[in-house]
Amino acid sequence: MEARARACANIALAKYWGKADVKRNLPAVPSISMTLDQLVTETKVRFDPALDADTVRLDGRRASTEEAARVSTMLDRIRREAKLRHFARVSSHNHFPTAAGLASSASGFAALAAAASAAAGLRHSPRRLSALARASSASAARSIYGGFVELPAGRKGMGDLAARPIAPPTHWNLRLIVAQTIPGQKKVGSTEGMERSRRTSPFYDSWLDRAPKWCRTIKRAIKQRDLDALGEAMEQSTLAFHCCAITSNPPIFYWAPETLVALETVRGLRERGISAWATMDAGPHVKTLCDASDAARVRQALDRTAGVTRTWVTKPGPEVEVHR
Ligand code: DP6
Repeated sequence: MEARARACANIALAKYWGKADVKRNLPAVPSISMTLDQLVTETKVRFDPALDADTVRLDGRRASTEEAARVSTMLDRIRREAKLRHFARVSSHNHFPTAAGLASSASGFAALAAAASAAAGLRHSPRRLSALARASSASAARSIYGGFVELPAGRKGMGDLAARPIAPPTHWNLRLIVAQTIPGQKKVGSTEGMERSRRTSPFYDSWLDRAPKWCRTIKRAIKQRDLDALGEAMEQSTLAFHCCAITSNPPIFYWAPETLVALETVRGLRERGISAWATMDAGPHVKTLCDASDAARVRQALDRTAGVTRTWVTKPGPEVEVHR
């Protein structure tokens, strides 16, 4: 009754922001991502008859009440399905800073879904694992698969929704350079941020209307390996979702001044003829997509940018891996 899983984070090229159904955690817009090989979560789950509660450790510390509750909600689903009554010991290790807009919930819940299902004796297909991960954190649905992945939009009240692969990691030799600006945890979690945007941003409806078109453009660009077309739509998608966050009430600024400085670096690279394109999640860090052959120059430019504290170079990564 023990299993381990390893899942990679992913970067949304077309962003998910907003829910069609909060209770079932169904996204209101389709999204597309690239799984990232360097940003890995490893999780071990053991169901143990001797326990009288779930115990959850994250990076060697005890999980907070909220974190542990989110983990137990997923474990409850698995226990119901496996007809299992035992509590579980969960320990999870992130090989990158958590909750800093570096999508650790995606790799975290993907690894948990895979490890806990296997430990409970369930032999889930990737599709089932993806739907299970999605119920806890929608971006996690995409981390079950490697390479390039899409998650369709949901509709209120619908049952299952899972991500599906578009192309394997070998399809396109891209690099994503993560530039960390300010360290620390994000201020408003994405679940809360997207609900506030839905309720209060005057631009939310335009976002819902426009997001599927960027998604279609990005999917086509991936198939054709057209980095300029992908990059342009990707930047519009991220700026539009940040526009919803910034125009929420009260406003949510995920950006730091350093974010804009790094964005200027990326624009400057393009002026020098390098196809480099930026995206941001619910945090201040800037992630730049480029061809593998340009990665060293892009990284060097970001390393030299005032306010950038650290960079990582990642490439299209593999699907979730389970060890029983
Ligand atoms: C900005 O998947 O963290 O990173 O479903 O509420 O857990 P929940 O949200 P989450 O949101 C990710 C938002 C994003 C864009 C993206 O990854 O698509």
